[in-house]
Amino acid sequence: MDVESLMKANLVVHTQSHDYPIIITSQCDMAKEIAPYIKGKQVMIVTNTTVEKLYLADLAAGLEEDFEVMSVVLPDGEQYKTQQYIDTIYDALMDNHCSRDVTLVALGGGVIGDMTGFAAASFMRGVNFIQIPTTLLSQVDSSVGGKTGINHPKGKNMIGAFWQPQMVLADMHTLTTLPQRELSAGMAEVIKYALIMDETFLDWLEDNMAALMGLDKVALAEAVARCCQYKADIVAQDEREAGKRALLNFGHTFGHVIETHEGYGQWLHGEAVAAGMVQAAQLSHKMGWISEAQLQRICAVLISAKLPTQPPSIDTQIALDLMQHDKKVKSGQVRLILLKSVGDAVVTADFEPKLLEEVLASCVPN
Ligand code: NAD
Ligand code: GLY
Repeated sequence: MDVESLMKANLVVHTQSHDYPIIITSQCDMAKEIAPYIKGKQVMIVTNTTVEKLYLADLAAGLEEDFEVMSVVLPDGEQYKTQQYIDTIYDALMDNHCSRDVTLVALGGGVIGDMTGFAAASFMRGVNFIQIPTTLLSQVDSSVGGKTGINHPKGKNMIGAFWQPQMVLADMHTLTTLPQRELSAGMAEVIKYALIMDETFLDWLEDNMAALMGLDKVALAEAVARCCQYKADIVAQDEREAGKRALLNFGHTFGHVIETHEGYGQWLHGEAVAAGMVQAAQLSHKMGWISEAQLQRICAVLISAKLPTQPPSIDTQIALDLMQHDKKVKSGQVRLILLKSVGDAVVTADFEPKLLEEVLASCVPN
């Protein structure tokens, strides 16, 4: 598939509130693509200091003829994904006399997408928003499916809402300005889909990793389209994470421990998820579900994407305590996503606590 034929392939996400398209394209006129999905006259673009310099001026200029365009620029970083900066968005909306038909546009990675979505979900009890994800991670995961929110000092993404966008615009060209470390972090979520849902996608990733890491736009568009389709299928079945959607958290319970323990912004989310997926795979192996060879295959594909496979050293008891803050905990019981085999994941609380402790302890140097 070339980029042109993928363009306007228009995947559709079906949700309880409304259906919406994901447009995957390259070097598009962003304003032209999103304009049909803007309902009122006011548009508030939310971005950060990094993405502002790259993409804000063109987007704003393209919209100005038809809309009243405003913008709010937040500091760049996971450590600013807090209530304080949601207030900054509310302040901009109030100071500019924005009304209920304002459309918020998230221009940036997952941090901006999650925060803009949460501001949209809560401002005047809910206004429209559009996602323009500009990192690989946000294109394949966070912009799709309506999870929005912010961090609490004691836990990742603890405050939030389900609030679906009007559309998602993923432009492969934006990935050309992304630092390699961020590309790798996004690749962790791409690999995640293969591990939980589709071994043939893992075969494809192994064959195409060099092209993906070399920013081949056709390969990237295909990977983004496949991941968005997996996610759209899951969201259509289980929007509120009553069941199957939890599988998308593979590696995340371990990863959130790393992110929270190390301080937000130190380990990138995708890096923490990569090391967390290895820990979840190790536990799956200890349970007799996946083989040593499969475990090694998982490590190898992560390494080919320049991702870490070892977590930092964290005291086991502290890690267990941090795991208690996971949103999947039910009645004090930690539930984890584990692999029955590659491409087949389950949510389970049915594991030996001793085996979990062994996995956590194996990252602590003697
Ligand atoms: P991010 O938003 O921090 O972006 C990473 C870095 O890349 C930032 O410095 C950003 O300014 C920069 N950047 C963004 N686009 C760029 C571009 N085109 N060129 C150059 N630099 C660019 O991080 P992320 O990895 O995109 O997202 C991580 C966040 O997403 C976390 O907060 C995580 O919790 C959240 N998340 C949410 C969901 C969900 O379902 N809502 C799913 C996964 C992750
Ligand atoms: N990133 C996990 C989810 O959207 O459910």
